Amino acid sequence: MIFCFFAYKLSLNRQKVKRTEIRQALLSEEFEKEITVMGWIRTKRASKNVVFIALNDGSVIHNLQLVADLGKIPEHVLSPMHTGAAIKATGKLVPSAGSGQRVELSVENIEMLGDANPNEYPLQPKKHSLEFLREKAHLRFRTNTFGAITRLRHAMIFAIHKFFNDKGFYNIHTPIITTSDAEGAGEMFQVTTLDLENLPKTQDAIVDYKKDFFGKPANLTVSGQLEAELAALALSKVYTFGPTFRAENSNTSRHLAEFWMIEPEVAFFDIHDNMDLAEEMLKYLIRYALEFCADDLAFLSKRLIEEEKNKKAEDRSMELIEKLNFVLESPFIRISYTEAVDILKNSNHNKKGRFVYPVESWGVDLQSEHERYLVEKHFKKPVILTDYPKDIKAFYMKLNEDGKTVRAMDVLFPGIGEIIGGSQREEDYDKLMQRMMEMHIPHQQMWWYLETRKFGTVPHAGYGLGFERLMLFMSGMNNIRDVIPFPRTPLNCEF
Ligand code: 4AD
Ligand code: MG
Repeated sequence: MIFCFFAYKLSLNRQKVKRTEIRQALLSEEFEKEITVMGWIRTKRASKNVVFIALNDGSVIHNLQLVADLGKIPEHVLSPMHTGAAIKATGKLVPSAGSGQRVELSVENIEMLGDANPNEYPLQPKKHSLEFLREKAHLRFRTNTFGAITRLRHAMIFAIHKFFNDKGFYNIHTPIITTSDAEGAGEMFQVTTLDLENLPKTQDAIVDYKKDFFGKPANLTVSGQLEAELAALALSKVYTFGPTFRAENSNTSRHLAEFWMIEPEVAFFDIHDNMDLAEEMLKYLIRYALEFCADDLAFLSKRLIEEEKNKKAEDRSMELIEKLNFVLESPFIRISYTEAVDILKNSNHNKKGRFVYPVESWGVDLQSEHERYLVEKHFKKPVILTDYPKDIKAFYMKLNEDGKTVRAMDVLFPGIGEIIGGSQREEDYDKLMQRMMEMHIPHQQMWWYLETRKFGTVPHAGYGLGFERLMLFMSGMNNIRDVIPFPRTPLNCEF
């Protein structure tokens, strides 16, 4: 008896209808074959005898049009089906009579899976502002814009792994919790299990971190670079792709407190090899997006044109796909920081006081406005700046012979500014130690990093690509909060 019951259940499970993804349905040539689709209603409109439903399941940007004949499907079944509701529909694919789509589904059977009260569902079929959608981040995946961005994000993640894998790199996981400050900038989130209301104190009345979880202060990592260097000095070519955390209080459209970074690190590489790799990688990713994300890019391009239509012509950005192709075809300009400062200092822009931060002397840190001026106004091409003053860069960068500059490289992109930051690393033990002392980096704690310079040290280099900066560039979006599903920024940690 029991056996019969299970056999019956099993056969029922097997009979479960197979869902056809809308992506497949839209490409299908199998007319007259019955299929079942499931998804969320984007719009519904009725004419005399028919109801049209635009259904989206996220597999592709396009909707499938469902055509329900009121002669076949009773009004009371269709009337509670509103925008946002999840439904299941079975029917035959037929060539579409209407314009705008090749095929549509002639509905035989339709069923509600989860309704959405039209008086409460926030995403009505009209244009919502990006700011409004940020407050509805739990639902914004259901908009065309965030669907496109999510699919593009996925494609870029996949392409990054493919690029490095095909080149013989090994992916390594670097720690998320760490006791070292990789960038030496002190912009870290502390990780502790101590009771903040009742901190244990030492005899000297300072916090007793021996009682903390790790027995010493710990933080969320700002970069996986230092650990990636350790692996590169054994496996030659490695890369990390992980979350990084920065507690800098920068409330800009380019900064997140939690973002994802890709950090290749390569032994026997100098700064020139490093620049070649960065340029090749960025172009590979652009080519990949153009080839595999054409529909989503076409949508994002239209979105950008729409968004900018009220801007003056000279303030509008280049059309998205044209911009991607343009960067693909341009050799990146490679100049030193010193040359860049000369260009900026002597620019009319600077002389007329158009920079918020005027460029007066060698040594100043470059702001995003300066980076964008070089890329967008002066060279009109991506630029790689090298050999920055040592005082504005991290301790691990290789010192040049001039004793003043380091072998740093920043890749600057139109509309973004810095998309990549990297360098050749200091491989000389004594010089590295000296830089650490000068910059008050706690070198005792970083004995493990220093030891790699004692045992078989070699020249090596690497860089960090900010994944969300890449996404800004690829998608034409303007605010970094709109290219990551759940942005974390100062005073914002909802969802
Ligand atoms: O220039 P950064 O600070 O370099 C490093 O962290 C090095 N350890 C990388 C390396 O050499 N392995 O950061 C690298 C990139 C930046 O160029 C930028 O694209 C991105 O990370 N980035 C941010 N993206 C979003 N929000 C922030 N707050 C970011 N800070 C840096
Ligand atoms: Mg940087």
